[in-house]
Parts: sequence; structure tokens; C-alpha cells
Amino acid sequence: MTDLLAIICVSFVFLLSLIIFVYKLWWAPLHLQHIMESQGIRGPSYKLFHGSTKEMIEMKSQISNTPMDLTHDIFPRIQPHLYTWIKLYGNNFLIWMGTDPKLVVTEPELIKEILSNKDCIFPKTKLKGYLKKLLGDGIVVAEGEKWLKLRKLANHSFHGDCLKDMVPAMIASVETMLEKWRYHEGKEIEVCDGFKLLTSEVISRTAFGSSYLEGQEIFALLTKLYALISRNALKIRFFGIRKFIRTKDEIEAEKVEKLLNESIMEIVEKRQDEVITGRASSFGSDFLGSLLRVHHDMDQGNQISASDIIDECKTFYFAGQETTYGLLSWSVLLLAIHTEWQEKARNEVLQLFGQVNPNLEGIARLKIVNMIIYETLRLYSPVTTIARRIERKVKLGKYEFPANVDLNIPPLALHRNPDIWGKDAHLFKPERFSEGLAKATNGNPVSFLGFGFGPRMCVGLNFASNEAKITLSMILQRYKFTLSPNYVHSPFVVLTTQPQHGVRILLQPL
Ligand code: HEM
Repeated sequence: MTDLLAIICVSFVFLLSLIIFVYKLWWAPLHLQHIMESQGIRGPSYKLFHGSTKEMIEMKSQISNTPMDLTHDIFPRIQPHLYTWIKLYGNNFLIWMGTDPKLVVTEPELIKEILSNKDCIFPKTKLKGYLKKLLGDGIVVAEGEKWLKLRKLANHSFHGDCLKDMVPAMIASVETMLEKWRYHEGKEIEVCDGFKLLTSEVISRTAFGSSYLEGQEIFALLTKLYALISRNALKIRFFGIRKFIRTKDEIEAEKVEKLLNESIMEIVEKRQDEVITGRASSFGSDFLGSLLRVHHDMDQGNQISASDIIDECKTFYFAGQETTYGLLSWSVLLLAIHTEWQEKARNEVLQLFGQVNPNLEGIARLKIVNMIIYETLRLYSPVTTIARRIERKVKLGKYEFPANVDLNIPPLALHRNPDIWGKDAHLFKPERFSEGLAKATNGNPVSFLGFGFGPRMCVGLNFASNEAKITLSMILQRYKFTLSPNYVHSPFVVLTTQPQHGVRILLQPL
């Protein structure tokens, strides 16, 4: 009797698993595909287990690692699958990361509706796997009350007077970098490694009150994590299989995450101990100080946890460095090619600052440099995907979408759209921004998504702009530069868009 019962139980579990398996792997994707198609949304057809990933990997492998011509039309290279499928299926289409549906949206009206929504109808995508180890539950993914709290903290630390106080640290870090440039005068120099160090130093000093050397371990671990994330971005793992069998990369990522959290905790505890032991009277006025103040708030409702602090630190070490490093690298490349704009920018810088270090008032008046920064972000947007989620059944434009569909918005698809930017969209023409961003985007603000749009727009926008303007100004004050014949044009993505072989320029002191 007990044997019979056991057989019935096992058969029942087996049957149930089979039903779930067939539902998730076959019925649900095909059903969703049908719903989308009935509204005119097409896309590469769902393939069992892999979704669209095999096609994506194939398209990417055909072009990556080989240099391209020196054009600025990089969308077909870094997101070849999207480029191909927009042509085949139109502005909005459905793709599959395994069994997970992703609706790619490139139609400005829809994007505006998605990104400007304040009612959590299109919340951030739920992270899993490798990316979760980088961003945790921090500001980039948080929603509701928690996001408001974290955003308020970040807004305070990266705006107004706080930004003003950061200028001397930014200038000192650029001076340190330019000291090294002196050994390359009259010769070739590769600038990206220096920009990586500079942006690491700037975020370490300004947000965490430590030097790059102190944060060195953190940046080394972050770099390892970026590589693991990129390497596994298109690898599909099924139904919680991670819990039972882990790959070499998954084990490595767990190790890196643990070490990363420990290294950050060391910096946090060092600051905390200074107050506890009476060596300091406050936690400090920088970002880390603000996080600690809130962590120790008497009102429990205001508090954030120790793990929130770690997630925020990881997020800002990453966001504060990778993106600005990309912006600086691509700006210098563009100015090395378009020397007429380099000359215009230099004239402006010399008129405003002469040979004196930049100051905040002057930085705000740098019009040409600002136009160059916008145009660089348009052509070489460091952020390649803005992600959201459809949480519950929703109307969007003329469509009605079911719940549990991720939304992917690729900024470069808009930035190179000739209907928005004209036939010369792929050319470097900073004059597009001569009358400001609103005029350049023709009243449609999502045409430029360099810093995002809506309530979740980049919180480090002014910080990054100041850092880039100070760095470019100080370079232009000292040097003329042209592109080295040894430069190899190979934009590629490791979380952000980067020059694969660095940027090599020939440096002439003024
Ligand atoms: C050139 C440099 C930068 C670029 C191009 C850039 C771009 C972006 C974009 C496109 C978003 C919107 C993402 C979305 O809507 O999902 C964003 C958000 C964010 N950025 Fe930046 N960023 C840059 C620099 C920085 C810096 C320096 C920091 C920190 C100091 C920073 C911190 C953040 C954070 C925390 C968010 C999430 C904001 C939220 O969800 O409320 N970024 N950034």
C-alpha cells in the first residue's frame, strides 16, 4: 500500500514538473508571441531553450574582434542583432533571452511614456545572476520608498555645493595624470588607461574620501566582475539550475562578490570607527558620510542597512567610473580626428581660463566643450541599454501588453536615426547642440538618451559633466593632438561602450 502511494506521489510530481516544463518552455512563449503578433509586433521566432540568443551570439561573433573603418556609425557593430532586426521587424519588436521575453522599443513616443512614468507601471528590471552581484538592490534597481530615500541621498551628494567642493580634487587628479603625459610630449600616447585611473581616483576621492590606491582592490575586483558579466550575458541557465549546478564563472563571481563586499566594508568600517573612537566628530560630508549618517539615523524609518551601504558603494564606484572613462576616451578620439573642433574648444578654454586651472563658474560657461560632450555621447553612448519591465497588463501607445515582459531601450538606435537627426546622423557635428539640448532634439527629449530621461535620469550627470569639462579643458590648455596612425577603431561593449584597443594620439605641447 505504501509502495503504491509512493509511486502515485512520484508520478504526480513527475507529471506536474512535465506540465510546468512544457508550459514555461513552449506554451507561454508561443502564446506571448501570438499576442504580440496580433498587435503587429513581430521579431525573431522563439527557439526552444535558447530563445534568440544563438542568433545574437552568431551576429556578434561575425564582427567583434575585427577592426572597423573609422566611421562613427557604431550601432551595427556593437548591437548587430538590434540593427538587423529593426530593419526586418520595425521600430518595436520582441526578442527572447532564453524563455524571458524582451520587448525592444525604439519609437520615441513610447519611450517617452515608459521613461517618464512615475507610477511604477514600468519599474526597473529585476536583476538576477551576475549583474545582481554588481548592483545588488541599490539605487539603480530599487523602487518606491527605498528608491526615493537613496535618490535623495545621491542627489544631495552630487549636486550644488557638494559638487563645488569636488572641483579641487578633480583638478588634482587631472594634474597627476598630466604629469605622466609629460614623458610622451612629441610622441604617441595611449590615453584610455590614464582616463581609467583618473576616473577611479576622482570617484574614490570625492565620494569615498579615499585615494585610488585605497580603492585599488575594489576596482580590480569590479573589473573582474565586469568581464564575468559580459562573458555570460548571452548564456542561458534554466529554471533555477544555478542552485544545483554552478559553472566555473558562477563560482568565480561569487568569490569576487564576497571579496568586493569585504573590501568595501573595510573602507566603511574605517570611517565608522573614526567616529565611534572619537577621532572624528562626524561621518564626513561626502557620499560615504551621508550613507553612514542615514545608517545610524535615530529614526528607524530613515535608516538604510549595512548591505544597502555596500550596494550603494558598489554602484557608485562602478557608475562613477566606467561611464565617464568612456566619455573621455571617445571625446579625445573625436577631437583628435576633428582638429577644427579641437581648435574651437581650445580657444574657448583659453578665453575663459587662460593658463589658470578651471573653476566652477567658468565650467558652466563652456559652450563649445559642452556641445562636443553631447555629440560624443550621441555617437558613442556609454550606456547601450536602458531597461524597464511591464509589471502588470498595460496600455502603451496603441498597444496593450501583458504583464512580465522586460523592456529594452537601446539609446544608439535613436541617436543614429536619420528621421530624428538627419541624413548625416552618423557624422560628428557638435553644432547640432549649438542652441541647447531642447532645440537639438526638436522638442522630443528622448531623441537623446545619453543620460537617460525622466525620474530615473542619471544622478551623476553634473558630476560627470564637470569631470569631463575639467579634464578636457586642462588637456586643451597644454596640448594639441592628432590621431596616431597606430590607432585601431574597434568599439566594443564590456558593460559600457569602450575602445577595445585604447585611443592612441600624437601629443604636441603648445
Ligand atoms: C558620462 C557619464 C555618464 C553617463 C553617460 C551616464 C548615463 C546614465 C544613464 C543613461 C542612466 C539612466 C539609466 C536608466 O534610466 O535606467 C544613468 C543612471 C544613473 N547614473 Fe549615470 N551616467 C554617467 C555618469 C554617472 C556618474 C559619474 C554617476 C555617479 C557619480 C552616475 C550614477 C548613476 C546612477 C546612480 C543612476 C541610476 C539613477 C536612478 O535610477 O535613480 N552616473 N546614468
